[in-house]
Amino acid sequence: MKIEPAAAIDGHIAVPGDKSLSHRAVLLSAVGEGETRISGFGRSEDTEATIAAVRDLGVRVYEADHETLRVFGNGLRGLTPPKKPIDCGNAGTLMRLLPGLLAGQEGTFELTGDDSLRSRPMERIAEPLRRMGAAVETTDGRAPLMVEGGTITPITYELPVASAQVKSAVLLAGLYGDGETTVEEPLPTRDHTENLLAQAGVAVRRQPHSVTISPPEALRLGEIEVPGDFSSAAPFIVAATLLAGSSLTVHGVNLNARRTGLLDVLERMGANITVFNRRRIAGEPAGDLDIRPSQLVGTTINAREVPLLVDELPLFALLAVHARGDSVLRGAAELRAKETDRIEAVVDGLRKLGAHIRATQDGFTIRGVPSRIRGGGAIDARGDHRIAMLGAITGLVSREGVDVEGAESAAVSFPGFYDLLDSLRGNTTS
Ligand code: S3P
Repeated sequence: MKIEPAAAIDGHIAVPGDKSLSHRAVLLSAVGEGETRISGFGRSEDTEATIAAVRDLGVRVYEADHETLRVFGNGLRGLTPPKKPIDCGNAGTLMRLLPGLLAGQEGTFELTGDDSLRSRPMERIAEPLRRMGAAVETTDGRAPLMVEGGTITPITYELPVASAQVKSAVLLAGLYGDGETTVEEPLPTRDHTENLLAQAGVAVRRQPHSVTISPPEALRLGEIEVPGDFSSAAPFIVAATLLAGSSLTVHGVNLNARRTGLLDVLERMGANITVFNRRRIAGEPAGDLDIRPSQLVGTTINAREVPLLVDELPLFALLAVHARGDSVLRGAAELRAKETDRIEAVVDGLRKLGAHIRATQDGFTIRGVPSRIRGGGAIDARGDHRIAMLGAITGLVSREGVDVEGAESAAVSFPGFYDLLDSLRGNTTS
């Protein structure tokens, strides 16, 4: 798909519900007591896989409308093994969180996924779940996975990687223990699981570097309203910052501080973003954003900040390409274990389009030039939704446009992405 350059983007938008929260809302309500009503559900290929998975496990999910689900929970131990493997599609969050719940069920469950998901590391969840008493088998460290529930022993687990998915798998298995389960995290990662568990009535104790839960009698969620996904807003925030003459307002977006590292980085780079209407949605901070264009300066991102904008790091590269001076990303080797090797995908993709970017083992370095990237070529999304959206925004802010190969993979997290982008176009410059 060819994305032509734009002079500016202009308008008011809302983006689909947060993907991390949408997965978690469905998974927790599947083992909840009675009905949970989820509004603002972020429909995408990934979250559809989660609905299908809990249905396969015997849970009734009624789709009241496009963004509203009614989930009739089977209770904490009420998931039953389907006859066929559970297909997680491309969804890493589903494949890494669901085994935490399956660890406490009776029976054996098989999980598989698409080529990308079957190439991603799964020992990181298998190892702690085994320690807790579940029998988990990987296929050379990857999916397909077999999970056999067992008697769960509570543990204190120190995360070897800063991963919210691994933290969540352990906490969810901890629901079935006979005592407290603690996860210690070296760096703060997104905390949606512990937030939702607390809302469901679980005793959650948080300390600066750890979270502890006590096993509950039952989960009671009632209603969950999902705020807009900051990660889906991010491509538009970047476009409005880079395109002179733009004016963009994003309404009702999640502003959980463990998700909005990009806003801090943008502020350091000199961006012009105002947050207003701060409020709470689903027990998390949310608000509206006003974005105006601005000249940027280069900056450095170190390991500590990485989990706070892990999914926005490809977009950071595009910002840095347009900033005055050098930018560096370090401590982000985890990007190599995402839907594709995102360091390689970003560096190869942007370099061919005119960027001065070089890969390092755990990040990249960029020499910024404060003028439009050339474009004029193609970027291969490699089946990765974040790379497809990076390619589209690169085309929009470029001089010659960009052909996004495999553009359809944006639907993994954001099915309406290209339509929304088109609706914001000012005059084209080509
Ligand atoms: C996610 C956590 C992050 C993120 C992913 C979604 C989640 O992964 O990259 O897109 O919902 O917990 P890691 O926790 O593996 O870094």
